[in-house]
Amino acid sequence: EAVSGTVPVVVHVLYNTPQQNISDAQIKSQVDVLNEDFNLQNKDISGVPSVFVPREGTIGFRFQLAQTIRKQTSVTTWLPNDDMKYSSKGGDDVVDPDHKLNLWVCNLGDGLLGYAQFPGGKPATDGVVIGYFCFGRTGGKLEPRFDKGRTATHEIGHWMNLRHIWGDKTCGNDLVDDTPQATTYNFGCPSFPKYNSCNSGEIEMTMNYMDYTDDACMYMFTKGQSNRMNAVFFNGGPRSAFFQ
Ligand code: ARG
Ligand code: ZN
Ligand code: CA
Repeated sequence: EAVSGTVPVVVHVLYNTPQQNISDAQIKSQVDVLNEDFNLQNKDISGVPSVFVPREGTIGFRFQLAQTIRKQTSVTTWLPNDDMKYSSKGGDDVVDPDHKLNLWVCNLGDGLLGYAQFPGGKPATDGVVIGYFCFGRTGGKLEPRFDKGRTATHEIGHWMNLRHIWGDKTCGNDLVDDTPQATTYNFGCPSFPKYNSCNSGEIEMTMNYMDYTDDACMYMFTKGQSNRMNAVFFNGGPRSAFFQ
């Protein structure tokens, strides 16, 4: 259900090469993607199969770029060990994590697109890390399979307490009622309908942002996911200081 509020976003750009120092336009495009994807304003929402249309969910609040911090670093490739979140380790310290979403954009190498911290973790490392080549949706240097800014959509889903849609094990549980079970993760662009091989035999929601499909093939959250994300910010949830 719609609530009002705005999540201020701090973007830390950590670059070793000029290519990694992504442009302001690239950063703006990512914030635009977030506002669209979390609010049913993405153009490809029309691709949702009719059986899933009644489950489409909108989070009801917006994202706003609050600050961009650029920093050159001698680190050529970062490991997913949170070093980029500390100035003392060649990265950049978190800014006001009780009230702001921190995004670190850096070189995570070729294998990992991004990673997130779930609610309730250490404030010093709270936020999301995204590889520079899949941040935003303009610029032409992006990896084609990941050029619609949906790595950040997916990771911010985790930051708002969403699990992977397959529940991180075979026919697992993502703790959301209106997402169908999935046998496991999906890559690429599966054709519809794809039935799971679980006892439930449901059609998988491979177009959900919390699967591992290509950016062009993920384009919805459900109402149940939106409720779970909202719960993080309200009624004493772990991020309830955000909108106060
Ligand atoms: N943490 C996941 C990975 O690095 C993110 C997947 C995002 N998927 C996407 N199509 N952008 O693989
Ligand atoms: Zn994930
Ligand atoms: Ca489910």
